[in-house]
Amino acid sequence: MNNDDSTKLSGAIELLLASSSRINEAKPRRYWYPLSLATYGVEEIVEALDSLCSFRTTMWEKTEEFERRFSEYQGGGHSVMVNSGSSADLLLCFLLTNPFKPLFSKGDEVLIPVLTWPTQIWSAMMAGLRVRLVDVCPDTLNVDLSDLESKITPATRAIFLTHLMGNPCQMDRILTISKEHRLLVLEDCCEALGAEWDGRKVGNFGLGGTFAFFFSHHITTMEGGMVICRDGEAADQLRVQRAHGWLRNVDSTHFRLPDEVLDSRYTFINWGFNVRPTDVQAGFGLRQLEKLPEFSRRREAFATRFFAFIDQSPFLQRPIVSAKAHPSWFALPLLVNLSAPFSRKELTHYLEEQGVETRPVVAGNLAKHPAAQLFKEFSESTYPGADLIHERGFYLGLSPLQTDDGMDRLMECFQQFLNRY
Ligand SMILES: Cc1ncc(COP(=O)(O)O)c(C=O)c1O
Repeated sequence: MNNDDSTKLSGAIELLLASSSRINEAKPRRYWYPLSLATYGVEEIVEALDSLCSFRTTMWEKTEEFERRFSEYQGGGHSVMVNSGSSADLLLCFLLTNPFKPLFSKGDEVLIPVLTWPTQIWSAMMAGLRVRLVDVCPDTLNVDLSDLESKITPATRAIFLTHLMGNPCQMDRILTISKEHRLLVLEDCCEALGAEWDGRKVGNFGLGGTFAFFFSHHITTMEGGMVICRDGEAADQLRVQRAHGWLRNVDSTHFRLPDEVLDSRYTFINWGFNVRPTDVQAGFGLRQLEKLPEFSRRREAFATRFFAFIDQSPFLQRPIVSAKAHPSWFALPLLVNLSAPFSRKELTHYLEEQGVETRPVVAGNLAKHPAAQLFKEFSESTYPGADLIHERGFYLGLSPLQTDDGMDRLMECFQQFLNRY
């Protein structure tokens, strides 16, 4: 960089840093209670500038450092960062069927809840697995264990769980079922960073766990994701598939090397994608991870207050939490009870009019979406639990940047609606 460039850059940095305190001022226009607020600030911006100014923007040391710190946060394991939570799901599913070292055969069955983010299901299908969709329980929003057991066949090889909205699944029963039927467990923790079952972080219970760092998630790298697994060799398989199928950034003792002499920088060992993250994203992740304990504390405090308020209403219901579970709420999910004198639509319409942003509980019942028509998997069963959530469920945001006053105003807004009945 020449002197002129440096002067321009210093001026730009000053301007940026001065405006970073206003990050959230411009955003919520229509909503005073939005789904999410920007949780990054000066630290993340400086980290991004550092990557840009050092010309190390693609996957470098910051990615490795973020992966190392993420594993520490999880209490062990090998972490592989990717460019989204969907890519994390994709890599984990392809770990099962990749041609270099497949664990499963094409057509082997995997059980997945029908109510989740669709890319979890698409990933398994794209990897050539036969997906059997399982209903969910409206009380917990998680997989219905009786339906799960009833869908196990001799071809079933794995359960791909979702800890929806940060509420951990019933891991004791799931581990018993998986042992009894010799099923691998995979976990989609994209909405559940920090959640625990019996003191153990979700993502650590089976072959691998996936995480998402989209803007509104527990931490953000703008876009980004992570796969964690306990087995170092499996992590290296993920690294190969993350970047073209080539043999780089891995422990080569995990791979049979070809006899011919090839250029080690361009040796392809497996098929693969390019779902690499950038160091700009990883730098964000490093700074966000430092903020995570405080973010989690605030999210938990707000959710506890809000759910205590909801518990007083005979018309609304929030998810039930198992005694051994410690949720890490992604948002504030609610169901309108069957006995309520109002519909979900009436309540969400009122909230939206009042400036409170709402969303359905993820995709609701995915079998009801146009995309489901393309795949026979969705018509094999009925999903009464998912239907109920589809018809009566919604969620509100839960930002760690919310304030006590904001939460008071939100509850007051609900109270005014409930007072009509
Ligand atoms: C349960 C679940 N799985 C996967 C994803 C995909 O993550 P991404 O949006 O980063 O691709 C999401 C996204 O929110 C999710 O909620």
